[in-house]
Amino acid sequence: MKLDVERIRIVEVGPRDGLQNEKATIALDTKVAFIEALADAGLTTIEAGAFVRPAWVPQMADSSEVYARITKRDGVDYPMLVPNEKGLDRAIECGVKSIAIFTAASESFNKHNINMSIDESFEEFAPVAARARSEGIRIRGYVSCACGCPYEGAVEPEKVLEVTARLMDLGCYEVSIGDTIGVGTPMQVQGLLYLLTQVIPRNCLAMHFHDTRGMAVANALAALELGITTFDASAGGLGGCPYAPGASGNVATEDLVFLFDGLGIDHGVSLDKLVAAARVISPWLDHPLPGKVVQACTKGTLPWGAKTTAQ
Ligand code: HMG
Ligand code: MG
Repeated sequence: MKLDVERIRIVEVGPRDGLQNEKATIALDTKVAFIEALADAGLTTIEAGAFVRPAWVPQMADSSEVYARITKRDGVDYPMLVPNEKGLDRAIECGVKSIAIFTAASESFNKHNINMSIDESFEEFAPVAARARSEGIRIRGYVSCACGCPYEGAVEPEKVLEVTARLMDLGCYEVSIGDTIGVGTPMQVQGLLYLLTQVIPRNCLAMHFHDTRGMAVANALAALELGITTFDASAGGLGGCPYAPGASGNVATEDLVFLFDGLGIDHGVSLDKLVAAARVISPWLDHPLPGKVVQACTKGTLPWGAKTTAQ
């Protein structure tokens, strides 16, 4: 296999996407310790929480406190999810430097997730983006249901392109293409990317795979083959969207790191410290972590049996 890629950027979404669907209430201290451990592992983009309506996603209700408590390390970006003007007010109040806005390529999903049609979401996000830009806040975008929708089934790639282009027009530096319910397969992902990259520069695209059907690592490899170098992932494979029935976790960050290590591609993340970060959160969950690599590690070892250096 020949890949013309020098470096991968991993966007860690565990503290937001990973935790938002968890039933057990995770303590503020644990969330903060989790984020610090992820930064210790070398991750340079860590989505730290969401300023969404707490009644919709109770686990994210303490995001302001989480953001206030974490050490803002040089060279590490801590984006926060923002669904509307009210969310941006909360972000600005906290001194957030970077936000993520989110919409979908499916009308029904958007209605369930943010109570807005696609057009309404752009009406909402236009002033949010303008104000964020004027405050010097960086904006990332998400397009959900890029490979399929839990309510509508198939989603047209042309719709994904249209929504992605509209997010770029709002000033997003990057748009993350979400397979929200993990239904995509490698050829489908490549087909979608052939279309997207005719219009959107590769370095403005990230892929966000949920691993519901075990396709996420294969899909990441398919995207990498087409020159995509930014991937969202969640430590331990945590995750899921409360408004996408049946959706399970994001691809596990360790599983992607294991893949990239095997391909000899630099990513700047320590696998053993990443496993240690996943172990910060796992005792507080009411289920085992789904990630494959973390399961293959017995305490104090890496999957191939070597001792870890992480505590
Ligand atoms: P709504 O109920 O339509 O809100 O929710 P509203 O505008 O009608 O306002 C109702 C009340 O909520 C008002 O308070 C507002 O002030 C308050 P009241 O006057 O009744 O006292 N409110 C807020 N409070 C705090 N923060 C806010 C906020 N906004 C309004 N930001 C809304 C609309 C968009 C807020 C809601 O639907 C929402 O929060 N949705 C977010 C759902 C969510 O977080 N989903 C998961 C994240 S997306 C995801 O996981 C996908 C992704 O990972 C990519 C992929 O996998 O595809 C990104
Ligand atoms: Mg997601």
